[in-house]
Amino acid sequence: MQSIIIEGGRQLNGEIDVQGSKNSALPILAATVLLDSVSVIHNCPLLSDVDAAVAILTHLGCKVERKSHTVTVDSRGVSEYRIPDSLMREMRSSIVFLGSVLGRTGKAVLTSPGGCEIGLRPIDLHLSSLRKLGASIDERGGEIICSMAQKAENTVISLSFPSVGATENIILAAAFRNGRTVILNAAREPEITDLARFLNSAGCRIEVGSEGTVIIDGIKKAHDCEHRVTGDRIVALTYLCAVACTGGAVRLNKVNTRDFLSVLPLYETAGCRVKSDSHTVFLSMKRRPKALRDIRTMPYPGFPTDAQAPFMSLAAISEGTSVIVENIFESRFKHVSELTRMGAKIKIEGRVALIDGVRSLHGACVTSSDLRGGAALVVAALAAEGRSEINCPRHIDRGYEKIEDCLKMIGADIYRETR
Ligand code: UD1
Repeated sequence: MQSIIIEGGRQLNGEIDVQGSKNSALPILAATVLLDSVSVIHNCPLLSDVDAAVAILTHLGCKVERKSHTVTVDSRGVSEYRIPDSLMREMRSSIVFLGSVLGRTGKAVLTSPGGCEIGLRPIDLHLSSLRKLGASIDERGGEIICSMAQKAENTVISLSFPSVGATENIILAAAFRNGRTVILNAAREPEITDLARFLNSAGCRIEVGSEGTVIIDGIKKAHDCEHRVTGDRIVALTYLCAVACTGGAVRLNKVNTRDFLSVLPLYETAGCRVKSDSHTVFLSMKRRPKALRDIRTMPYPGFPTDAQAPFMSLAAISEGTSVIVENIFESRFKHVSELTRMGAKIKIEGRVALIDGVRSLHGACVTSSDLRGGAALVVAALAAEGRSEINCPRHIDRGYEKIEDCLKMIGADIYRETR
């Protein structure tokens, strides 16, 4: 059993090169299946979810080579269209292989990804959209059995909610389909733009408009391509929360600041000094944070649900009362009971968390039950007085590459213990 041990109360100072985005890398890796060519993908984070994506690619018949943060995928040998349950279960976002396998082979058989720690996570929008594209889909015994004939038809799909995964699956299934596909009310997350940039670098014709419209003109043949995954905006926001909590001064490099520009003023509300240019952010903090007041998670460009938990740790030690409303996932407050163990005063009513900031948290033995909730515990432990032990760090490892090394580099007293 592994735990992350943190001796809290140290200021954080220095620089971090932020890893590539997990949520960009995963759909991009899935997209390589479509291309029938060689894709070189740089800045791929070293994470267990990326390992799971590589295992699926290999199973489908791709040749995959990994050298540090560069993954080369040769998808010319793709022959398989079934993904076994054991591989699907490794990560929730394996559902994005549905669009790519269907787009490449005209068939796909995989198992439903099911719910997870943060909610039910249905895929009804994915399936209804693929049906609109002409797919026939059967759901039997936990399996999703799809086939799609090539038809020359222009299609407009209007999403009732701008689902990130559904938007990605439509793009993937439509990239090589005859005719034009238009998605209305598409997700606008930066990861969608990164996926389109990747596919376009291989010759696809995908236009992501700023108002939630995506236009996909199907192509017949792609070519080899090379792409650099964008910086991880959620990892960047997590580290900034850590510094806002502990005090200190940190520069983050290799980020696309535009991807989280709307969130930066919140750190200023808390009393931080923030300076940024297109690829770096500098944050310094010299005082106890002030309450954040009112945060509501929303689809992009609103406040990201993935940053809700780390910001709750910041609110927990801020002066005054903050309110956080979680509008995207129904069970995304699992970290609250653990933060309470560290002395936080938080009340939950449905989707609303009321956080009464305390002067300081104390170290405790806590358990991470999901990725971002686990990261929130790390943030809280860095600021807490005394020693914390965070169990089940495997959840954190799904999204944060070498989190101890990154935080140690800026002065944290943090290490991993294996028992
Ligand atoms: C992606 C991100 C995740 C992030 C989320 C929202 C990846 C790998 N994961 O997840 O980190 O928290 O976007 O920004 O990129 N929904 C339905 N039916 C559907 C699809 C979604 O009801 O068919 C609901 C979900 O239950 C949820 C909401 O829509 O309540 C948002 O889900 P979605 O945008 O699809 O998130 P994911 O793509 O799963």
